[in-house]
Amino acid sequence: MSLVDSLNWRYAAKRMSGEKISETDLESILEATRLSASSMGLQPYTIMVISNPEVRAKLQAAGYNQPQIVESSHLLLFTVWDGISEAHVDVYIRNIAQSRGVEVEDLKGFSDMINGKIKSLTPHEQQEWAARQVYIALGTALAAAAELRIDATPMEGFSPEKFDEILGLKEKGLKSVVMMAIGYRSSEDTLAGAIKVRRQKEALFSFVD
Ligand SMILES: Cc1cc2nc3c(=O)[nH]c(=O)nc-3n(C[C@H](O)[C@H](O)[C@H](O)COP(=O)(O)O)c2cc1C
Repeated sequence: MSLVDSLNWRYAAKRMSGEKISETDLESILEATRLSASSMGLQPYTIMVISNPEVRAKLQAAGYNQPQIVESSHLLLFTVWDGISEAHVDVYIRNIAQSRGVEVEDLKGFSDMINGKIKSLTPHEQQEWAARQVYIALGTALAAAAELRIDATPMEGFSPEKFDEILGLKEKGLKSVVMMAIGYRSSEDTLAGAIKVRRQKEALFSFVD
């Protein structure tokens, strides 16, 4: 099956069956998400993987009572770092050095460049920038789930402030941005068979030949 077949198969399920996805499939989705591209490779976000039923019941109340929050197998909550520090950059630089067998000192130019970029942004701009990165991870996760024929609903319909409070994210230095419910579509979901609606190629793309 091609990626296009998978993207045609997927839709944003409104109702899910409650059936759990396998650990292997969960790991595959998480691994694909981990491999997402991000600006300068920093990945300035943390993705919470939430299965606890009591926690999800609380989250549902803060998520316009959307059924997928409790009917999914897992919720992936994409959060951004509330403030990107030199310490974050340092961890990243050390990861590059270890992964590629190079000296930290040899990465000083790159490190300075990242810190310069971060410091040029206001705290709000840092969050917006981090959110742009985490949405790429969301897209990767959606495609990865579709390849496995696992339903996934991207969701912005919730109160980020209330989610942060329920999950104690402030203390963790995180802010919630967007989530994705993963699981299996319910036979009661009337949207399951709906024809996909997308803008036409001619309208969406503008070619400069
Ligand atoms: C960032 C984002 C936020 C969304 N929020 C919600 C949501 O809160 N609840 C929901 O049921 N669907 C949500 N959707 C799903 C969209 O409505 C859906 O993707 C769109 O209508 C296209 O349909 P399809 O994905 O089913 O093909 C969201 C999608 C995106 C990308």
